[in-house]
Amino acid sequence: MISNNKKKKINLQKIKKNISNLDVSYSHERKIRFLLDIRGYILVNKIRGNYIEFGSFLSEMQIASFLILNKTNFIINFFGVDLFKKFNNFNSNYIGVKKTLEKISKKLKILKLDLSIKKNFKKINIPINISVIDCNEKVSLINSLEHSIKNIVNGGIIYIDDYFILDKKNLLLRPFINKFLKKYKKKAEFFKTYPPFGIAVIILNK
Ligand SMILES: C[S@@+](CC[C@H](N)C(=O)[O-])C[C@H]1O[C@@H](n2cnc3c(N)ncnc32)[C@H](O)[C@@H]1O
Repeated sequence: MISNNKKKKINLQKIKKNISNLDVSYSHERKIRFLLDIRGYILVNKIRGNYIEFGSFLSEMQIASFLILNKTNFIINFFGVDLFKKFNNFNSNYIGVKKTLEKISKKLKILKLDLSIKKNFKKINIPINISVIDCNEKVSLINSLEHSIKNIVNGGIIYIDDYFILDKKNLLLRPFINKFLKKYKKKAEFFKTYPPFGIAVIILNK
């Protein structure tokens, strides 16, 4: 590099501006990015099935998924599943969310289920093309992961919002992904990461 011998100064404002240009204040940015990223993939590969979100809270991501992906015509219905009870800082109202969704589309559906109880999953035995796992608690995350791997169609995508969470020497869900892939004779292909904790993987039949 040729030096012009001019002394350069640190421009603090410029550094701050660059950070704020890249910083993200909207908590759903990564989730919306994921939905936009998979639109072409679903369309070109004709991956047909149901969208399901484990831990749907106020259905903000679920509604975004409808707005972004319904045009593909490859999503049968958009399901959101939640406790709809006080859980940490989350507390959404089943009737309120349901009424809002009904005004948007008949394809948006919610179910009030406790995902920490395995037998509850019998109520959602549907072919899945997009699974969003976002229920913040270990047993429910594992149950939702198993159900997703079991029911996902060939080429379907699983988004795990809490993938890069440590559990001693492992990533919390990593050993369970391998276990369920083996159990249901499937394989996974990495799609993309969504910091700080998210990942998307494509699931294929063996
Ligand atoms: C991070 S929030 C989900 C945010 C939502 N996916 C979104 O993008 O707007 C986690 C949700 O998981 C739900 N949850 C936690 N434990 C659950 C359980 N055992 N069964 C069902 N939902 C549960 C909570 O009620 C909460 O609404």
